[in-house]
Amino acid sequence: MTDHLTIAPAGFADAGEILTVQRAAYVTEAQHYRDPFLPPLAETLDEILAVLAGPATVLVARAGHRLVGSVRALVDDAGTAHVGRLAVAPDQQGRGVGARLLAEVEAACAGRASRFALFTGAASERNLRLYRRHGYEIVGHRPDANGISLAVLEKRLVSPAGSDA
Ligand SMILES: CC(C)(COP(=O)(O)OP(=O)(O)OC[C@H]1O[C@@H](n2cnc3c(N)ncnc32)[C@H](O)[C@@H]1OP(=O)(O)O)[C@@H](O)C(=O)NCCC(=O)NCCS
Repeated sequence: MTDHLTIAPAGFADAGEILTVQRAAYVTEAQHYRDPFLPPLAETLDEILAVLAGPATVLVARAGHRLVGSVRALVDDAGTAHVGRLAVAPDQQGRGVGARLLAEVEAACAGRASRFALFTGAASERNLRLYRRHGYEIVGHRPDANGISLAVLEKRLVSPAGSDA
């Protein structure tokens, strides 16, 4: 576990570092799929600033003053929180930062969401392992805009009344 890790809502001032961490983190995915135009890599600073304007929840992880990770989630009208852009700086991966970000973005949405949804490359085994460990199950597959096969995963919260069954 990374020492002195803090997780907090992102502000506009974090946009540049989010862009930098996101681009660095997703390069390995781009190499894996031989596609340098994966949406997280093609996203611009202005697009990140637009996301930060709301209504999405955007969290950042800091080790000391350094921004080392980010994640976002948007809750739709049906109560599904769409989690995305989970990214950790390459030299900080494998230390629990991604797991903390995932748990905290779920907690930030929990009052508004009964279900969490996310996707990852169908061949990204380590990502799939991380999500399974956090209670996600593969519910389907679909191609992304560039034709890469994505695994769609969901996690349902148990409703106290059992009314969302
Ligand atoms: C996926 C990612 C956010 C995980 O963050 P992390 O801080 O390395 O994850 P944690 O340390 O909390 O957990 C490690 C687990 O994540 C998974 N993992 C995925 N990519 C990993 C990587 N490059 N290094 C280490 N673990 C990775 C593994 O399942 C690992 O568990 P294991 O011990 O069973 O191998 C991070 O590796 C990353 O930014 N990857 C590139 C971008 C990406 O693919 N994002 C997800 C797209 S849906």
